[in-house]
Amino acid sequence: MTGSTSPRDAWGTRAGFILAAVGSAVGLGNMWRFAYKASEGGGAAFVLVYLAIVALVGIPLMTSEFIIGRLAQESPARAVRRLGGPAWAPLGWLFVLCGLGILAYYSVIAGWTMRYAIDAIRNAIPSDTGAYFGEVSQGVDAALYHLVFMILTITVVAGGVKGGLERANLIMMPLMFLILISLAIWAVTLPNGAGGYAYYLRPDVSKLLDRDILTAAAGQSFFSLSLGMGALMTYASYLQSKENLAREAVTVALSDFGVAFTSGLVVFPVIFSFGLLDQVGESTVGALFIALPAGFDQLGRAGDYVDTAFFVMLLFAALTSAISLLEVVVAALVDGLHMRRRDAAIFAGFVIAVLGLPAAFNTTFLGNLDALVGQFLLMVGGLFTAFLVGYRLLPAADAELAKGMPNAGMRRVWASLVRYVAPVVLIIVLAFLTGPTWDAVVGLVTYAR
Ligand code: PHE
Repeated sequence: MTGSTSPRDAWGTRAGFILAAVGSAVGLGNMWRFAYKASEGGGAAFVLVYLAIVALVGIPLMTSEFIIGRLAQESPARAVRRLGGPAWAPLGWLFVLCGLGILAYYSVIAGWTMRYAIDAIRNAIPSDTGAYFGEVSQGVDAALYHLVFMILTITVVAGGVKGGLERANLIMMPLMFLILISLAIWAVTLPNGAGGYAYYLRPDVSKLLDRDILTAAAGQSFFSLSLGMGALMTYASYLQSKENLAREAVTVALSDFGVAFTSGLVVFPVIFSFGLLDQVGESTVGALFIALPAGFDQLGRAGDYVDTAFFVMLLFAALTSAISLLEVVVAALVDGLHMRRRDAAIFAGFVIAVLGLPAAFNTTFLGNLDALVGQFLLMVGGLFTAFLVGYRLLPAADAELAKGMPNAGMRRVWASLVRYVAPVVLIIVLAFLTGPTWDAVVGLVTYAR
């Protein structure tokens, strides 16, 4: 609790916190980007590089975010300034900017997902999924579904930490896991599915040292683990108990990886079994929104159930992530400007809904926004978080971690990863990404003109 008059929101249970953190991490990024990047980037070789980055950079940074959150007991936007000093205020603004920027386009993709889920239930997804996706993904319809999804997100966040976030995760996450596991078991029964597994995971070791694999794995890990923008920091700021934060980070990261990996075990057998590899094409969304429903379509009746299950699962995953994105902005308004939670949720949600409109009318804009905010800026946020915790706040952070993790040796390993390994990896990756990011910025500006 802070010193303010009204008690601060808090999780009802420790499990509620973990589930919500997993809910934030597991999202659209797991279901399509991971499998796609893996198949493109050397299969099992990509998975190895990805896991190495998660262990060396992702988990230490997630632990750092948890530490700052629990230590500060207030929104990240204010916390970094109060703990680090005025020079750190821009990091807080960057977090809020990332929350706004990512949710703006994330909600558009979630809107497509909602449209697919509803049409799947109504049995109205046509066989020509390419043309259907073309209609769904850009234009007035895309904008409307984006707005509806934002209203859902606002409603959950307005309900508060315990009554909104925790409850929504408690309902949606178990259902999501159940559907995913059922789908993965079902996928085993597909004829020729084995070719899909082989395609997904064939180890292409020649790619191990490829710099594109490194940047793809780093970008994917940040986005997928919800790192670099204070989302998990915000969630940890509603914690008061003394759990082992490093262990919680491992739990969240492994669950996130498990879901991403398992999604690939659904997506690729379907695509392979029905010979749809050419439809995956260049675009990362192709696999999910075009090839997959085309495969389900060929299954006749059974396919109707399967595609409903799949898109409902995706919608749940998207919603539990979207609420964590909005919560970063809302927490900043509640703690910083003393707005009421409900008003803050409506106001921030409205701003984001408007910001997302260009992405709803133009998927190139959407992709560029993702490249700039969802990849580059997240890693910038992560880099400075590592500097803040590793160099400016280390004694306090270490003491906070020690509350649940008495083992000093383990804490030294964590500190070294945050001080040396994470910054080096992030600086290298950011350097590789400057060219593509610049192109994305130019793309964004040209659309605006
Ligand atoms: N981790 C979410 C996903 O994989 C996206 C996200 C990014 C959520 C950053 C919160 C913060 O879909």
